[in-house]
Amino acid sequence: MNEFLSIDTSTLSSKDCYNLLSNLIIPRPIALVSSISRSGVENLAPFSFFMAGGANPPSVVFSPVVGLNGSEKDTLVNIRETGEYVINLVHKTIADGMNLTSKSIPADESEWDISGFSSLDSLTIRPKRVAESMVQMECKLFSIVEHGAVEGSARYVIGEVMMIHQSTNGGLFAPIARLGGGNYLNVQNGETFELSRPEK
Ligand SMILES: Cc1cc2nc3c(=O)[nH]c(=O)nc-3n(C[C@H](O)[C@H](O)[C@H](O)COP(=O)(O)O)c2cc1C
Repeated sequence: MNEFLSIDTSTLSSKDCYNLLSNLIIPRPIALVSSISRSGVENLAPFSFFMAGGANPPSVVFSPVVGLNGSEKDTLVNIRETGEYVINLVHKTIADGMNLTSKSIPADESEWDISGFSSLDSLTIRPKRVAESMVQMECKLFSIVEHGAVEGSARYVIGEVMMIHQSTNGGLFAPIARLGGGNYLNVQNGETFELSRPEK
């Protein structure tokens, strides 16, 4: 018989809850989300609280969690304002660039400039696709579900997938997935590797 350590989540800080959930719910796919602010600044950021939701209509969900002092991620603000974004899937070759885009930079600066990625126009929306990604999904916002109001609270961004672009010359698509902490899994060969988050 298994023996269990039973944890009442109400006794944990939000940091401890984050550490537990993100070490237990693994491996997680990564959405590298491209969005544009109302004033036209192009944003890029990765999110691993991400999954498919349904097929008719095709939908996906990811969660940019609330930050310190109730602050919201630029990606969330942009999508709420414009209703459009691209989810770019991530494989090993673009893992370092993806990681660079997780840097906290001012809302009026673009992570595209530090990522080294090149862009491709989308067909149905304004935010651009990451050309180096092998699968890109053009999404329109369906709904944002707000669960909680403090640091660590979820903002479920539910989107409808309008267009899926799959590379036809990049070989087999083998994404990477996020494990706990800075650990990742390469789905292609089962190898794990580590990435340190960029300096603030
Ligand atoms: C692989 C990876 C996955 C991440 N997943 C999430 C996530 O699911 N939710 C979240 O709020 N932040 C996540 N982050 C952190 C955000 O990418 C980071 O806060 C980023 O600066 C947000 O950018 P923005 O403010 O331009 O939207 C992740 C970072 C990495 C490297």
